[in-house]
Amino acid sequence: MSLSRRRFLTNTTLSAAGIPLLATLGSDFCEASTENPIDWSMGFPGDAVLLNRNENPIGPSSAAIEAAKNGIARSFRYADPDSIRGLLAEHHSLEKDEILVGTGSGEILKIAPLVFARDGNVVATLESYRQCPAFSEKLGSSVKWVNLRKHKNYSYDVKGLIEAVDDKTGLLFAVTPNNPTGTILPYEDMKIIADSLPRHVLFVIDEAYVHFQKEGKSGIDLVKEGYNNVLVTRTFSKAYALAGLRCGYGIGHPDIMKKISNFGCGPTSTNMAGFGAAIASLADDAHLQRSRKFVSDTRKFYQTQFSRLGITTLSGPPIFIMAEFGDRTSEISAELRKQKIYVRDGKEWALPNHIRISYGYEQENQAFFRAIKKLI
Ligand SMILES: Cc1ncc(COP(=O)(O)O)c(C=O)c1O
Repeated sequence: MSLSRRRFLTNTTLSAAGIPLLATLGSDFCEASTENPIDWSMGFPGDAVLLNRNENPIGPSSAAIEAAKNGIARSFRYADPDSIRGLLAEHHSLEKDEILVGTGSGEILKIAPLVFARDGNVVATLESYRQCPAFSEKLGSSVKWVNLRKHKNYSYDVKGLIEAVDDKTGLLFAVTPNNPTGTILPYEDMKIIADSLPRHVLFVIDEAYVHFQKEGKSGIDLVKEGYNNVLVTRTFSKAYALAGLRCGYGIGHPDIMKKISNFGCGPTSTNMAGFGAAIASLADDAHLQRSRKFVSDTRKFYQTQFSRLGITTLSGPPIFIMAEFGDRTSEISAELRKQKIYVRDGKEWALPNHIRISYGYEQENQAFFRAIKKLI
């Protein structure tokens, strides 16, 4: 099937399901310029099934797309995220100087170790997202890895994390819900960690997928309770589906924010399209609810399909699932790759018997299971 036809079908089905994604920003938009065609494939074959990058296929809300277009017309100017900080402060009932906006939350996750752990070590969980600890290693810091408690449902080893802290530790990093296991670090455990840390250690809580979990207390409540050694990061990339527009933010005590802003997160970190889309997304609660429902429905689909096939899974609130293929894991992911179905090998996170599958569009998810059924 040609790429255009495939995209057309995808768009039609999604619009029928009330999902605005490519109904608005679809093949027509992507392929409008035939004189100077743009390669939107991001280095993958044009007809690839991309289930490898934790992107949210629901796409931006129509309001976000409109605002981004308005931003593009103004993109001869630098985008100063000051007003986003104000809106986020209102949204979270915080002060503006407790918030910094970055080029995705990734910018903040790189600056934090630069400021707080350059001459020391970082404590982090091995089976988890690596951006912050990996960057620390590049800066020359060492990382003290602590395992998830595999036999206790892959929960965080809170005691192990606390015990790994020494007088050289500059930063303790935790992701909740965790990528790739979906593990949640409960608020009570966050508090135990924050209470036990020496004041010089920054506790970074990466909440990139928090919108998909049941509402309740989060790292932000620690900041509100006055913990001045906590930095929470959040992003517009996941629940708001704006990954390509690069807008995320950090929340913490103003002193932490000042130190971070010496190295970035200033008026040139955001772009005009992302600026507009982030503001419009924040006001579009209906789209956020659609996004949550889409993810929860897709998770049920994956869980049911895997369970029918007798394959064990690890899944939590986020937009991906880990499936256990044991000693056939590498072989299966290589076979999928040959069929242009891209997933991630769990060995990246020391989980070599698992494959992480990011949820895709309905047709992509079905293509995945068609392939898996033939492979197992
Ligand atoms: C746990 C986690 N944190 C942060 C990020 C980076 O997000 P952003 O797009 O805001 O840089 C990702 C991206 O996949 C992630 O999985």
